[in-house]
Amino acid sequence: LSALLIWGAFGYLLGSIPFGMIVTRLFGLGNLREIGSGNIGTTNVLRTGSKPAAAATLLLDGGKGAAAVLITRCIAGDSAAQIAGLMAFVGHCYPIWLRFKGGKGVATFLGLMLALAWPVGIACCLTWLVTAIVSRISSMSALMAAASSTLWMLVLGRGEIFLLGVITTLLIFWRHRENISRIKAGTEPKIGKK
Ligand code: G3P
Repeated sequence: LSALLIWGAFGYLLGSIPFGMIVTRLFGLGNLREIGSGNIGTTNVLRTGSKPAAAATLLLDGGKGAAAVLITRCIAGDSAAQIAGLMAFVGHCYPIWLRFKGGKGVATFLGLMLALAWPVGIACCLTWLVTAIVSRISSMSALMAAASSTLWMLVLGRGEIFLLGVITTLLIFWRHRENISRIKAGTEPKIGKK
């Protein structure tokens, strides 16, 4: 149990790194909290107008989820890797460095899914992409990718990560509650718009 706690803490600290804010600062684009939705994720970095900054944020936020899983799996096995991945996701949403006011977890979720079960990860990424092409709304794409993840796990025979899928999906919906209200009201901005 203590080993799981340690790997959970490792995942959490890795996930807590707010790459969106760091990248935006490094690119000289200002304080992400004062831009667009104020969120720390890729979608909001894109609202600065810098596609390279958004791409870097996506890779780093996804990469930290994947790294938490891959490093932990190498050293401590599959169960610990699931805990580390989940905690990296929690760390992104509730980072200690930002007084627990973090992001919505989408890139980190995709990264950890790719690392835990790449067919499921790819199916989730494709779900995101297809929804984005159709709706042009990032939050809608995130909700569809998350909601479909448990279905993909069953279809692709990866039931061992089903519980992780349920928990991450519930948390992604919770973190998007304001987006969901805006989608219902028809006021959610399209990708790339302020
Ligand atoms: O991945 C985050 C996205 O789904 C919503 O971001 O900035 O539009 O609230 P934002």
